[in-house]
Amino acid sequence: MAHHVNFCVLFFATAVHLVQTVPRIVDLSYKQNRDSVTWPSNPSYNFTQLFRGYSETYKLWLENNHFAMPEHMGTHIDAPVHTVKGMWRTDQIPMENLYGAGVIINVKSKAATNPDYRVTVDDLLMWEEKYGEMPRRAVAIMNSGWSSKYPNKTLVFGSPEPTDISTLHFPSWHEDAVTWLINKRQINAVGVDTPSTDYGMSSTYPCHTLLGKNSVVGIENVANLDNVPESGSTIYIPVLNIADGSGGPARVFATYDDEPNKTNAAAMVTCFTFYLYILAAVLVCYVM
Ligand SMILES: *[C@@H]1O[C@H](CO)[C@@H](O)[C@H](O)[C@H]1NC(C)=O
Ligand SMILES: *[C@@H]1O[C@H](CO)[C@@H](O)[C@H](O)[C@H]1NC(C)=O
Ligand SMILES: [Zn+2]
Repeated sequence: MAHHVNFCVLFFATAVHLVQTVPRIVDLSYKQNRDSVTWPSNPSYNFTQLFRGYSETYKLWLENNHFAMPEHMGTHIDAPVHTVKGMWRTDQIPMENLYGAGVIINVKSKAATNPDYRVTVDDLLMWEEKYGEMPRRAVAIMNSGWSSKYPNKTLVFGSPEPTDISTLHFPSWHEDAVTWLINKRQINAVGVDTPSTDYGMSSTYPCHTLLGKNSVVGIENVANLDNVPESGSTIYIPVLNIADGSGGPARVFATYDDEPNKTNAAAMVTCFTFYLYILAAVLVCYVM
């Protein structure tokens, strides 16, 4: 009997160990600092130390800074009101609209040869062919490989004159793909690893208008997309809760279970453990 119990305990411990797959977490934001990329003409980042040292007043080490920045700088969101009057401001966006299943659209090879590339409906259909139909209220983000250029403004904006908005070249979404995401998949948020949800050459910003009109959050300058699976993650968009804001910096991050096979193995071991346990119980009953 003691042997059976030991055996069961051993298997049970193994099963518990296997079940404890800690979900992976990936930071999809860049650090905010004076190098943060922002749209030309925005004011610069201001980080000022107010106090750093031993405080005689409080009798402890003390650090305290002031920072100020444009809402649309570094990794940040566009609230729907950013480009469409009357829509949600930052503090009015429901929390339900600030997370969703991660859908990463990989267009790195296309963007490598064409900096004016725009994600098409075909790119979305190819994703679905691979991973199945997109969940509703997802967060779809273009991975164009642009993060390797950040925060060099010449490279990120694809122009030797990054302050002249008529000279910009970087990839983003095509309005037909955004329309498809809104109408066919009830998308929650649409993001890019470039500075805008409209490509660099745009002068009419149709994607911004579509997203705003349909209460869809935009996310710009998303980082580290190579470290998230193209399907199977959950993406969170915890934007600073700025009253009356038109957007704001966000510590965007993704979580995913990186070892579904391990979970299956754990389930098998658990079943096997119960089987052994029953077997032991039956044997004990017959023996005694
Ligand atoms: C930055 O913030 C500090 C602290 O409020 C302020 O004194 C300083 O004038 C600001 N600098 C700029 C360039 O706005
Ligand atoms: C940005 O990239 C350009 C082009 O490669 C290069 O000439 C420039 O030195 C870079 N700037 C910085 C600040 O690294
Ligand atoms: Zn923006």
